[in-house]
Amino acid sequence: MKQTILDARNLKQHYQVKQGLFKPDAHVKAVDGVSFSLGKGETLAVVGESGCGKSTLGRMLTMIETPTSGELKYGDEDLLSLSKQAQARLRQKIQIIFQNPYGSLNPRKKIGAILEEPLVINTKLSAGERKAKAFAMMAKVGLKPEHYERYPHMFSGGQRQRIAIARGLMLDPDIIVADEPVSALDVSVQAQVLNLMMDLQQEFGLSYVFISHDLSVVEHIADQVMVMYLGKVVEHGSCAQVFEQPKHPYTQALLSSTPQLAAEKRRQRIKLQGELPSPLNPPSGCAFHGRCQYAEDQCRSQMPSLRSLADGHLIACHLVNQ
Ligand SMILES: Nc1ncnc2c1ncn2[C@@H]1O[C@H](COP(=O)(O)OP(=O)(O)O)[C@@H](O)[C@H]1O
Ligand code: SF4
Ligand SMILES: [Mg+2]
Repeated sequence: MKQTILDARNLKQHYQVKQGLFKPDAHVKAVDGVSFSLGKGETLAVVGESGCGKSTLGRMLTMIETPTSGELKYGDEDLLSLSKQAQARLRQKIQIIFQNPYGSLNPRKKIGAILEEPLVINTKLSAGERKAKAFAMMAKVGLKPEHYERYPHMFSGGQRQRIAIARGLMLDPDIIVADEPVSALDVSVQAQVLNLMMDLQQEFGLSYVFISHDLSVVEHIADQVMVMYLGKVVEHGSCAQVFEQPKHPYTQALLSSTPQLAAEKRRQRIKLQGELPSPLNPPSGCAFHGRCQYAEDQCRSQMPSLRSLADGHLIACHLVNQ
C-alpha cells in the first residue's frame, strides 16, 4: 500500500447563483460529495464532460477555493482547519497547472522572471540562487538556456506548457493538479508533454491529479481513474478496471467515443445522446437517466449510491452488481 499523500472525503462545492431580480437564488452543486485517496507518486485521473465539476474540484484541492463542506488532508494535516499561515506554507506543496498556457503566463515577463517569481514571493533565495534554479528547471523540462531571456509569445503551445510545468515545480511541490494540461495542444505535441510529465513524476516522486475531458489522454498516465457526472463520481477504479472493464453506462459511452487504434480494443459505439443536463436543475434519480439506454423506472426516481464491487471497483448504477 502506498503512503497516502492527499485524502479527500465528501468534498462539496455548492455555488449560489443569481437568477434575476424577482427570482430566488439558485444553487449549482458543482461538486457534490467527492472522495478519494491519492498515494505518493501516483496519478489520479479525473474525467468527464465539460461542466461536470473537474476544475472546481481542482480549485478546492489547491486551496484556491474553500469547499462548502468536506474534509481534505495532506498527509496528516487537515488542510481546511489550518491557520492561514500554515495553509500558505502547504499551498506551495500543491501546485496547479492550467489548460491554457497562453493565458497563464504573463506576456510582459521574460521566462526567467516567470520561473523565478514563485521563489521571490516564497523563499529567501538570493538572485543568483534563483537564477541557478531557473536554469536547472529549464533543462529538466527541455528548454534551452537562451530561452531565459525570451517572452512567452516567442514559444509554441507545447513549449509554453513546458514553461508552465517548470514554474509549477519551482517550489518543489509534492502534488501537481494538472487541469487539462494538454487539451489545447496538437495531438502530436500532447504525447511529448505527457511523456515529460511522466519523466518528471519519476524524477521528483510527484503525485498527480490529472484532469481531462478526454479519456484517451489518461490511459497511459493514470493509476486510478475517477469518472464524474454532474458533480458526482459515477465510476472509480484502477486504470485497468476502468479501461478494460468499464461498468457505468456513462463511462462506456465516453470510452466508445474515443478513438482506439488496436482493433481488439475497438469498442462498439454507444452514442452519448443529448446534452449534459443543466446543473441548476439536475434530473431526479440517476442524473444520467435521460441519456442512458438502459434506464428503468427506478433510475428516474432513486439516486444510485456509489458502491464497491468485490474487486474494489466503485460504481454508481442500479443495474451494475458485478
Ligand atoms: N464560480 C462559479 N459560480 C457558479 N457556478 C460555477 C462557478 N464555477 C463553476 N460553476 C459551475 O459549476 C459547474 C462545474 O464547472 P467546472 O468545475 O468548471 O466543470 P469542468 O471543469 O468539468 O468543465 C458548471 O455548471 C459551472 O457552470
Ligand atoms: S442507474 Fe439507471 S440510468 Fe443511471 S446509469 Fe445505471 S442504468 Fe443508466
Ligand atoms: Mg474545467
